[in-house]
Amino acid sequence: MTHTTISPLHQLHSWDAFTNAVKSSFLDKNALRLVNAAGLTIDFSAQRNSAELQTSIAQLLEDRHFIRQRHALFHGEICNTTENRPAWHTMLREPRPLPEVAYERNRILEFIRRTDSDRKWRNIVHIGIGGSDWGVRLANSAFGYAGTWRNIRYVANIDGHAIEAGLSGLDPRDTLIVVATKSFTTAETMANAQRALEWLKDANITNPYNQIIAVTAKPEVAEKWGIPKHNIFKFWDWVGGRFSLWSAVGVAAGLTVGSNVLAGLQSGAHAMDQHFLHASIEENAPVQLAMAEIMNRSVLGYGSRNLAVYDSRLANLIPYLQQLEMESLGKSVDIDGQAIEVPTGSVVWGMPGTDAQHTFFQWLHQGTDGAPVDFIVCQSEDHRWKEHHQQLLAHCLAQREALLNGKTEEEAYTENIQTGMSENKARLIAKHRMQPGGRPSNLIVLPQLTPFSLGALLALYEHKVFVQGVVWGLNPFDQWGVELGKVLAQGIEKEIKDETPISEKHNPSTQYWVEMFK
Ligand code: F6P
Repeated sequence: MTHTTISPLHQLHSWDAFTNAVKSSFLDKNALRLVNAAGLTIDFSAQRNSAELQTSIAQLLEDRHFIRQRHALFHGEICNTTENRPAWHTMLREPRPLPEVAYERNRILEFIRRTDSDRKWRNIVHIGIGGSDWGVRLANSAFGYAGTWRNIRYVANIDGHAIEAGLSGLDPRDTLIVVATKSFTTAETMANAQRALEWLKDANITNPYNQIIAVTAKPEVAEKWGIPKHNIFKFWDWVGGRFSLWSAVGVAAGLTVGSNVLAGLQSGAHAMDQHFLHASIEENAPVQLAMAEIMNRSVLGYGSRNLAVYDSRLANLIPYLQQLEMESLGKSVDIDGQAIEVPTGSVVWGMPGTDAQHTFFQWLHQGTDGAPVDFIVCQSEDHRWKEHHQQLLAHCLAQREALLNGKTEEEAYTENIQTGMSENKARLIAKHRMQPGGRPSNLIVLPQLTPFSLGALLALYEHKVFVQGVVWGLNPFDQWGVELGKVLAQGIEKEIKDETPISEKHNPSTQYWVEMFK
């Protein structure tokens, strides 16, 4: 795809039409709007909707050349324009991928098969950060709790406590270190990998490099670092870090929860890809999810979206989606560098339900701002405490209904009187008990938590993010904003170590603290 100049969003007639349609539509408490996608059901009933709104969405997407851009995404064209490369994660879950992808996929499966049949490595230490970390944690917390004979530890942070906790108590002779890093330069990962190498050496392991595998888009750099070729698994520059779970990055999950989990994730994601490619706009789950978010964020002004995951196995979905959404959509200029004059990517935050209900749901119900919520739940449980699951489902539906319907002052007053309160007190307490309602949400129902359904869910969010990028006109595949801090940290580190004088370019506060920390 060649770079074509786009119109600023706020200058499009279709944007005006969309904005007007949002403002003139309302949250219909009696609506029932369901979309089925790759085995998931997405309930959009608690979002504004109207025929006019859907017409404006179709026009807006046409003005943004959505179909052409989606085609480019799926065909490995240059979608990441500022870094001049494709964002071809969909290729990684193709049943018949490019030969190089198939080759690497088979190498991983063969590695897992061989390692399992030799019953090698009781411990896996996965070293990686961001997109080279969260997906593996998510797959393990989703499918590992029921038991795997291997232990897995994660080391991401540069904080020495992370590597300390990651290695402590493990037998170095029975530990495989997985170093996952697309760039093979990330400061945290390289420092932690070095510590792990030293730990193996300190244990007099004859060939410590044989106990380290690398997953990277820079195999030559990994080889230079010392890792033997046969221990290096490759992915490609055209896979974004936060879209890399579908690549060899998942190998540690394959070793702990099984290669069938990797295959299942891929086929669920592929099924969602097919849905995204072929469903009509109105029945297209990623499109409708994206447009609901744009409506809530850019038109109605909500600053954040809450993730209420009613499944404790999916706790890691929250940081996974925080990276996917906030690293992708935390942008202020469009692909031509023009300011986007509407609010873009929301803050994404959350906690598994029902813990969340006892932590911050008060704010969602009665706070001045409120936030749209994505409720995510599995229809069927995988444990033997059916009643717990029924209660979980009830809480999920109840919270959603409370946010939508609220409670009027009059209703609260009547209830207060019925409990025997005096009239004055009933009036006062009614003001505290009333809830505005009218707060939007999505409900995403997985039939059960399987690798397939989780894969479909992750791809749903990936494509949602892509559609938001298309409409806002921004590039969701770069992350230039993280660079400045990384560069400054390199200089400050040298100053703290007293290798260079403290730069006068720092502000006085930084200078003061560097001096203190030296
Ligand atoms: O936070 C910036 C970032 O580049 C992420 O996009 C990426 O997932 C993470 O760092 C880790 O990068 P790498 O896989 O190259 O070590």
